[in-house]
Amino acid sequence: DLPWRREPTPYHVWLSEIMLQQTRVEAVIPYYNRFLERLPDIKALAQVEEEELMKLWQGLGYYNRARNLKAAAEQAVQQYGGNLPADYGQLLKLPGIGSYTAGAIASIAFGIVRPAVDGNVLRVAARILASEEDIGQKKTRKKMEELLLSAMPEEQPGDFNQALMELGALVCIPNGAP
Ligand code: ADE
Repeated sequence: DLPWRREPTPYHVWLSEIMLQQTRVEAVIPYYNRFLERLPDIKALAQVEEEELMKLWQGLGYYNRARNLKAAAEQAVQQYGGNLPADYGQLLKLPGIGSYTAGAIASIAFGIVRPAVDGNVLRVAARILASEEDIGQKKTRKKMEELLLSAMPEEQPGDFNQALMELGALVCIPNGAP
């Protein structure tokens, strides 16, 4: 039961995934709620003053994440009427959105069959496959993304991805027993 799962709009999923990239879930929740109270939609985010944006982000660190959010929101207003595109390739072109975040938004918010491979998912996949490959390497990630894409269900791809992430975060942990 997490705030961004109650109403998984593209904006909510996007914001939560960006905040969660370098910050723990418990730490993110109050920031996430406050951010949305002040900036309830992508248009509001596109218009916010830099100074206020930095205040909303203060304590989360890695401030480029916030600057990229605003830059991407501006593009979303200009190109997509203030929405995020329901397309993996177009999501990938927005500032601050890489393959992981594009896959998370596409699958969780839009129901598009795309993997969302973060460190947790990489570890789970490597252990399932008993792979000895270095999960720090780009080509390993690419390979896992391709394998997962072919293994994903058509139904509820977002739940599939979130289940893998959570399995990696809570059960199949780093340095733990596979
Ligand atoms: N970690 C980051 N995003 C997550 C999500 N959507 N579900 C579970 N764990 C996550």
